[in-house]
Amino acid sequence: MDIFQDKIQAIDKALGYLLPGEEEYPQTLNRAMRYSIFAGGKRIRPLLILLIAELFGLRQDDGLIPSCAMEMVHTYSLIHDDLPAMDNDDYRRGRPASHKVFGEATAILAGDALLTLALEILAQESGNGQGNYYTSSYINAVPPLDRLKILAEISRAAGVDGMIGGQIVDLESEGKEIPPQTIDYINSHKTGALFSACFRIGVILGKGTRDDFGRLNACAEAIGSTFQVVDDLLDLEGNREKMGKDKGADLKLKKATYLSHFGVEKAKALRDEKFNESKKILDYYGDRAGPLQRLVRFILYRDY
Ligand code: IPE
Ligand code: IPE
Ligand code: MG
Ligand code: MG
Ligand code: MG
Repeated sequence: MDIFQDKIQAIDKALGYLLPGEEEYPQTLNRAMRYSIFAGGKRIRPLLILLIAELFGLRQDDGLIPSCAMEMVHTYSLIHDDLPAMDNDDYRRGRPASHKVFGEATAILAGDALLTLALEILAQESGNGQGNYYTSSYINAVPPLDRLKILAEISRAAGVDGMIGGQIVDLESEGKEIPPQTIDYINSHKTGALFSACFRIGVILGKGTRDDFGRLNACAEAIGSTFQVVDDLLDLEGNREKMGKDKGADLKLKKATYLSHFGVEKAKALRDEKFNESKKILDYYGDRAGPLQRLVRFILYRDY
């Protein structure tokens, strides 16, 4: 991931600017939002958006608003996922989970605030009246209809037809034998939906063609659900310190996963198959897609 350090720094700088300051009122909420955002996430989703948009020549700074919005939505989903009412995890991104530090009520509200801030920055028409560089760059580079499409992509991917829909079926399936179609539903919704949105947003930002949409959608479908299968593998075989979250959570909660249904060997075979599939799709873009190919390899063969 070292090759993406500059990009990650740009994303972090923008997030630092876009989130309310720690000393601003109400401090507790602002601290909780920053605590989870700056806890050391891998930033895979914003990187995907930037790399896809850049495949079509978008200037990096013009894509930082949707990239940061996506990371806010993802971070909100993690804060809520760890709550006692959901996965009841104490440890996230290498530190105590939000609710362990700030209490459940604040963790819930920090998640809500990240989600709503994401939608607000996507919908903003001018930079706070004070020349917000990120908003101005976004507005100047991306026409209003495309910005509306991006807002719709993120909202849909976060909602009932996406992440939230997947999370409810994930919770309802604990301790049950469920058919493979339901496992597919869980993975493609709770995790795959945000990935698909990243690819689609990248193409919208880059003003790609219908064919680009088709190709990159297929790539997103290959890696989105598989990202969750790899997460489930790491929950079994990963290193707690490296991952920054507890392992064994899925067994403890009797989660119904691809792994619990098909076993480790099939899960790894699926990962290889999906990697080859996505590689072939991206080969169409030749050398230009080099960084994207590397990110996809990291996504599927990561160890944290
Ligand atoms: C973890 O996502 C949650 C899943 C959807 C499996 P990441 O592994 O991208 O988490 P961070 O952002 O790096 O913490
Ligand atoms: C979470 O899946 C997916 C989300 C939408 C947050 P997991 O529950 O497996 O994620 P981790 O393992 O806690 O990061
Ligand atoms: Mg979960
Ligand atoms: Mg969890
Ligand atoms: Mg997991």
